[in-house]
Amino acid sequence: MSHKIGVIPGDGIGHEVIPEALKVVRAAGVELDTVDYDLGGGRYLRDGVVLDDETVEEWRRLDALLLGAVGTPDVPPGVIERGLLLKMRFDLDLYVNHRPFLAPDGSHDFVVIRENTEGTYAGEGGFLRKGTPHEIATQGSVNTRFGVERCVRYAFELARSRPKKHLTLVHKTNVLTFAGDLWERAFHEVAAEYPDVETAYNHVDAACIYFVESPQRYDVIVTDNLFGDILTDLGGAVSGGIGFASSGNLNPDRTGPSMFEPVHGSAPDIAGQGKANPVAAILSAAMMLDFLGEADAAARIRKACADTATLTGSTTEIGDLVVARL
Ligand code: IPM
Ligand code: MN
Repeated sequence: MSHKIGVIPGDGIGHEVIPEALKVVRAAGVELDTVDYDLGGGRYLRDGVVLDDETVEEWRRLDALLLGAVGTPDVPPGVIERGLLLKMRFDLDLYVNHRPFLAPDGSHDFVVIRENTEGTYAGEGGFLRKGTPHEIATQGSVNTRFGVERCVRYAFELARSRPKKHLTLVHKTNVLTFAGDLWERAFHEVAAEYPDVETAYNHVDAACIYFVESPQRYDVIVTDNLFGDILTDLGGAVSGGIGFASSGNLNPDRTGPSMFEPVHGSAPDIAGQGKANPVAAILSAAMMLDFLGEADAAARIRKACADTATLTGSTTEIGDLVVARL
């Protein structure tokens, strides 16, 4: 069976890593029927298009989306991020951002479940008296019981499926006493349904220390959108580098396609030079295959990417190496 995949290389190194990911998936024997979408900062600069509703409607008929990276320095901050990436996450209800981290030496293996549709990303806020000496900018954090609970539930299900069966809530309950309180109550109430899962809580600042000093303490982490954004860059840095960090923007209810993308950005500083590490994109594609029921091919790809220290060379050379190891 062929899977219908929307492909958005995006900007910068997205154009280099996505072809490698597709090459590896096809070499693993999975048939893909791909539709390319030219979206991102480059497209916006050419004709002003970010992402229209008709395109999102078209995507609802796909099995999944694979995205490289979006963002260009010559586009004002937020235009592409909010108009394309966040619009995808919100419109397709990709409420879980699933980001796994594996130490190159196997000493840690944890997953960060980042809430992906709420928090400070929701876009609540605005300016008053903008440009005056008395201007005010507010940026609210939206936390719905429904949104938090469904994300926490996904994290408990994941923790239950893993050998350690351990889930840590990361927040800042000592300062964010409203949002933190809602998260904590939702977490503990759902925990009562999962007596087999051991739970813990860390403040986000302390979690930063633990990520660096003792990441092996973690199994599954569930956290707010912005904390998860920051923590997952750190997770990449302590797990061999951001060039290996994969992610899935998931709609676990499968009311539409999920979207898979490397954690890294478009890296304009190295774009076009064949220097980008395609492994994050390749592993994101493997996560996509898992989600599409191609567990065998996904496992083979992950295995081919496992010996990270030996995955060196140009972008295409690394892609070829992974293919050869399949
Ligand atoms: C990520 C990215 C995005 C985010 C940006 C590009 C909007 O950093 O996927 O982690 O903040 O979510
Ligand atoms: Mn990020």
